[in-house]
Amino acid sequence: MSIPSRVKMVEVGPRDGLQNEKQPVPAAIKVELVHRLQDAGLKEIEVTSFVSPKWVPQMADNAEVMAGLVRRAGVRYSVLTPNLQGFEAALKSKPDEIVVFAAASEAFSQKNINCSIAESIERFRPVAEAARAHNIHVRGAISCAVGCPYEGEIAPERVAMVARLLKDIGVQHVGVADTIGVGTPIKVQRAMEAALKHYDLDGVSGHFHDTYGQALSNTLACLQMGVWQFDASVAGLGGCPYAKGATGNVATEDVVYLLHGMGIDTGIDLDKLIDAGKFISDFLERKSGSRVATALLNKRMA
Ligand code: HMG
Ligand code: MG
Repeated sequence: MSIPSRVKMVEVGPRDGLQNEKQPVPAAIKVELVHRLQDAGLKEIEVTSFVSPKWVPQMADNAEVMAGLVRRAGVRYSVLTPNLQGFEAALKSKPDEIVVFAAASEAFSQKNINCSIAESIERFRPVAEAARAHNIHVRGAISCAVGCPYEGEIAPERVAMVARLLKDIGVQHVGVADTIGVGTPIKVQRAMEAALKHYDLDGVSGHFHDTYGQALSNTLACLQMGVWQFDASVAGLGGCPYAKGATGNVATEDVVYLLHGMGIDTGIDLDKLIDAGKFISDFLERKSGSRVATALLNKRMA
């Protein structure tokens, strides 16, 4: 399999990144972040989630954030919906895509969405049906596809099983997610191969958290399989509130630098992306989690 010449980056910072922030981030800041990301050339942006505000208070302003967007043609705005209640709320905000999120680990499913894997699929079934009826694209996430904070290592067969269940209910695309960033290249390739038993190459993406510093290696391992879609979070924001200790997604800036260095087209302006990362890092009064952004900002100042 040859390395793709073009990669689509899915920016998940506004959702996966900010959901983990303890300090309130005003809706206007979230909207400004999305605007800066689309200015940088991102064509897929995960904006927010329609989950219980008791579970994830930071996403309680979901409708306000969606309403504040000045949408750009050609950009797909997605939101997470764990159940029909979330989908119905999300529908008013006219997302282009919804994301249902399952897990390859029973324990994580319980902690994250308060139900078993099988129950989650039954909750997602009417969501996927309703979304398709409204012409909304349906993506699925498979969390803990390599390892789980509660169950440890996860066998690829679990990923294949969840991919099959998602496929059966009409989920059009699956993201193989290393939620806690414990994966290494061969293990991640095995997890991806498991998803590829039920989806084709155009129907899968990689979602790597960088807790153990393996996310770029894991990205490269998937590129070598021909995978061409990856989630990442600007400035490496985030983590999952139900996976304690897990750091953010791999920084979008770092993946883009890797890809451009390999001659792979992303359509993204790295300088503008770095500005977007600086904007949110400054707001959070935190150093960027991106090594590339840190290096290039230092260079700018020199
Ligand atoms: P539950 O408590 O079992 O839900 O939570 P319930 O159906 O029994 O309802 C209880 C209450 O929640 C009711 O309110 C409902 O109205 C309300 P009350 O009567 O008590 O006032 N409720 C909702 N409110 C707003 N939006 C909704 C909704 N549903 C019920 N959609 C539930 C089940 C799924 C809602 C809860 O567990 C939840 O919200 N979990 C979300 C957790 C989450 O957002 N995790 C982070 C995202 S996943 C992730 O980051 C991983 C990913 O990045 C990939 C990776 O890295 O692995 C995607
Ligand atoms: Mg995640």
